[in-house]
Amino acid sequence: MSLIELEKIRRRVSICTKCDLCKSRTNAVPGKGYYKSKLIFVGEAPGRSEDKQGEPFVGVAGKKLSIALEYAGIPRDKIYITNVVKCRPPKNRIPKDSEKKACERYLKSEISLIKPKIICVMGNTAYHSLLGGSNITKDHGKIIERDGNRYFLTIHPAATIYNQSLLKTLKSDMKALVKILNGIKG
Ligand code: URA
Ligand code: SF4
Repeated sequence: MSLIELEKIRRRVSICTKCDLCKSRTNAVPGKGYYKSKLIFVGEAPGRSEDKQGEPFVGVAGKKLSIALEYAGIPRDKIYITNVVKCRPPKNRIPKDSEKKACERYLKSEISLIKPKIICVMGNTAYHSLLGGSNITKDHGKIIERDGNRYFLTIHPAATIYNQSLLKTLKSDMKALVKILNGIKG
C-alpha cells in the first residue's frame, strides 16, 4: 500500500544523515501531498521557510506556485510536491552533485510509489537531476518521455518572484499541463 510506504520514506527523510546538509538543517522536508496524485511537482531544495516548517513550498516561492496552480484549476491538496534534495543548503546555494546523489533514492521512491501520469519538473536543478537538461528557459512547456515516465518542464516558481512576465509563463505552463493531463487516457 503506497500510503504506508510513503509514510516510511517520510520518516526516513526526517531523520536522514546521508549527506552534510543534515548538519545545518532545522527540519528535513519530505514530500507532501496526495498519495494517489496524477501529478508530482519537483523543485530544487527547501528554502528558509520550508526548513523552519518542515514542508515543501510554503514560503514566497510556494505562494507563486499556488497562484499558478489556482489559475489552472489544479487544487494543491490533489497533487504531490517534493524536491530534489530534502534539506536546505546553507544560504540557499544550489545543491552539490554529492548531495543530489545522496538524496536521489527518496525522489525515485516517491515517483515509483505514486506512479504519477506526469512529473512536473520545476527549474534547472530538477531538470538536470532528472533528465540531464540544462536550459529550462528554452525548454519549458515541453513533454519528455523517458524510461516509462512522462515529464513536463516548467520554470522554478522562485524565478517569478520579482518577474511578472515569468509568473505569466508559469501560469500558462500550468494550463498547458492540465490540457496534456486531460488528454492522457486511462
Ligand atoms: N524552492 C524549492 O525549490 N523548494 C521549496 O520547497 C521551496 C523553495
Ligand atoms: Fe538525507 Fe537528503 Fe537531507 Fe542529505 S539532503 S541529509 S540525503 S534527506
